[in-house]
Amino acid sequence: MATLDLGFVRSQFPAFSEPSLEGFAHFENAGGSYACQQVIDILDHYYRQTKLQPYYSFQPSSKAGQQMDMARNRMAQWLHVDTDEVHFGPSTSQNTYVLGQALRQHLQAGDEVIITNQDHEANIGAWRRLAESGVVVREWQVDPVTAELTTSGLEALLSERTKVVAFTHCSNIVGSIHPVREWTDMIHAAGAIAIVDGVAFGGHGLPDVDALGADIYLFSLYKVYGPHLGVMTMRKAVNEMLPNQGHFFNAGNTTARFTPAGPDHAQIAAVNGVIDYFETVYEHHFGADDNLPLHQKGAAVLKLFRQAEQSNLQPLLDFLASKSNVTIIGKTDVTERAPTVAVVVEGRKPDELAAALAAKKIGVANGNCYAYHLMQAVGIEPDEGVLRMSFVHYTSMEEIKQLIAALDSVV
Ligand SMILES: Cc1ncc(COP(=O)(O)O)c(C=O)c1O
Repeated sequence: MATLDLGFVRSQFPAFSEPSLEGFAHFENAGGSYACQQVIDILDHYYRQTKLQPYYSFQPSSKAGQQMDMARNRMAQWLHVDTDEVHFGPSTSQNTYVLGQALRQHLQAGDEVIITNQDHEANIGAWRRLAESGVVVREWQVDPVTAELTTSGLEALLSERTKVVAFTHCSNIVGSIHPVREWTDMIHAAGAIAIVDGVAFGGHGLPDVDALGADIYLFSLYKVYGPHLGVMTMRKAVNEMLPNQGHFFNAGNTTARFTPAGPDHAQIAAVNGVIDYFETVYEHHFGADDNLPLHQKGAAVLKLFRQAEQSNLQPLLDFLASKSNVTIIGKTDVTERAPTVAVVVEGRKPDELAAALAAKKIGVANGNCYAYHLMQAVGIEPDEGVLRMSFVHYTSMEEIKQLIAALDSVV
């Protein structure tokens, strides 16, 4: 089994050789990752060579359109969905907002929607608003001690009235990776559709959406080494069921129906850079194979990233667990856990701790990270929130040690 060549993956990110970032340790990847060279190159080329209206017959325009089409096609293959099931919007919050408008028109008063109190607000607020139209919104609540969602919690809420269930693949605070397939099967058995927020998962490798069984799967590419875009996959049957949110003449255009904002052409072209990066990683570790379907390469890259992340995560969790004044939100072992670690430190404010770490050239997040309801559920003042440290596969053990040493001196 291949192990991650850290030097190789870091060589793909200009940030690691950027003089102004020298000595800085990036532990806010759940907020936004570094961009890989492939993405930066495509943006540069696009703006120099094809920055005009795409899809006309003159050469730079048709070339721009081809790059955009290729981006959608390759992203679809990597996610294991059909090309016209991929939608690019400005962000995940914007994508859920638009979907919320479609559901408002589609659902009837008395229909039920299940949301969680663990999610980022992007996968809660858009569905909560449906209550204004008579839709019944039910809350699948976390255990207030563990901060985890349970399968029995979902089971208790599902009924023949349930039309939609929205939950997260991985919480941006708790870090647990959920048994998505088990839950989507339950949701489908109840006759409802499953909307899965993959934003906190995507930076750790893109999933096989077909295997997950999500009817709608959302994530944000600025956390996946790419441009600031939201990706939404939507099953064709769901697309056909929901009313058009785009211009009236686009009602029959599958990929324009739920992205009324109009796409950022250059950024869509740059999606190719994300796939180029993943393909480069695959080829470097497993060899070239033009016949292997992209989603199978995706599964191998995901596993490679996960192994690297897990071996860096355990020492951090062990260190934090050894501190009597620190409470970790979520599990203390790495099984089915992403390297997003939120803590509360007794008697210390998260913003002061984050500032103390910043003075030591370490970037972390503090606050509620828009998981406002989760903060309330576990008894944390949302305006104060937590201290959150998050990393991805490109993080080195040296950086983990730098973080641990800095934490040791400030907590
Ligand atoms: C888990 C999760 N879901 C949704 C979002 C919203 O994504 P976007 O910023 O693209 O709207 C975020 C953003 O941080 C997030 O962490």
